[in-house]
Amino acid sequence: MGIKITTTGHYLPAFTVSNDDLAQFMDTSDEWIQKRTGIKSRHISTGENTSDLASEAAKRILAKRGISAEELDFIILATMTPDSLTPSTACVVQDKIGAAKAFCFDVSAACSGFIYALSTASHLMKSGNYKKGLVLGAETMSKVINWQDRSTAVLFGDGAGGVLLEAMDSEEDSFIAEDLHSDGTRHMALVADQKNTQNPFIPNNEEQSYYLEMDGRGIFDFAIRSVPTTINHVIEKGKLNKEDISWVVAHQANKRLLEAISKKTKIPFEKFGLNISETGNTSAGSIPILLDQMIASKQIQPGDNILLTGFGGGLTWGSLIIKL
Ligand code: ACO
Repeated sequence: MGIKITTTGHYLPAFTVSNDDLAQFMDTSDEWIQKRTGIKSRHISTGENTSDLASEAAKRILAKRGISAEELDFIILATMTPDSLTPSTACVVQDKIGAAKAFCFDVSAACSGFIYALSTASHLMKSGNYKKGLVLGAETMSKVINWQDRSTAVLFGDGAGGVLLEAMDSEEDSFIAEDLHSDGTRHMALVADQKNTQNPFIPNNEEQSYYLEMDGRGIFDFAIRSVPTTINHVIEKGKLNKEDISWVVAHQANKRLLEAISKKTKIPFEKFGLNISETGNTSAGSIPILLDQMIASKQIQPGDNILLTGFGGGLTWGSLIIKL
């Protein structure tokens, strides 16, 4: 029995904010942002929460496949910006789309969230207990950004994407290889919505930091070292050569960073999918949004070996090779 990714989908909020729009109220410029990051504009929610974006992406996937939400056995949702600590955002999506028989949970791995969630889902499916599962990556980064901090505010955007996994009667399988990592010793490199222990029995409660804070240079250096290594490892694990990889669908954090990763891995930059100029960094949303766009534009063709790679807070990083 094989497990196939049969359908993809995404949803971006309609409202867009250009670099010039940001320069109206913070000390930045279109030139700086484009040169350092490759970002021109980003989609920003005007009220929709993470579960709303994820539900829209889910509805599009189900409509494309022509199945009802009631057929889903599970929903796994990767996010670092859940609607609440509890319930999980996956359970809220379950309610919004009517996936009555699914079990649902969130995965927290920042920008690597979709990679971790997709790997988890593939192994659940391989147990043979489930026929159909939805894996979503969704974020409203705009709600954890400090809009006074130009070093982070210009980087992020909102959006959601996802894939449908189905158990096949044949041996056809989408999952070729995986390589996942974390380094908790660097957990302070990217922090958002920190919750210190606070109760009436503790004197001198510390102030809580709600906003996203990031050591941008530190994450850049970490990604330049770690992402090429995970790319090389996953290709080795898949018993493939670099030339066998049709597309790299990498987390869209910074175009310069992706160029550096291309150079280090010697995988031509033309093979790297790109949408950062229009979306910014949508964290767990970025890989499934880009994957769906590349399938819709027919860049990705059936049978292509697609290398997905993500990296971010945790620190977390990892790669999967899939085939549609
Ligand atoms: N506009 C204008 N100037 C700015 C801005 C801005 N928006 N932001 C910073 N600057 C200034 C700085 O103050 C600094 O000025 P100085 O030289 O006078 O001190 C100068 O620009 C250079 O700043 P750096 O931080 O050194 O710029 P750098 O080239 O490193 O780019 C960036 C910063 C874009 C954040 C880069 O480090 C980066 O992309 N890092 C990776 C981030 C990332 O990948 N995150 C992914 C994980 S996200 C997740 O898991 C959710």
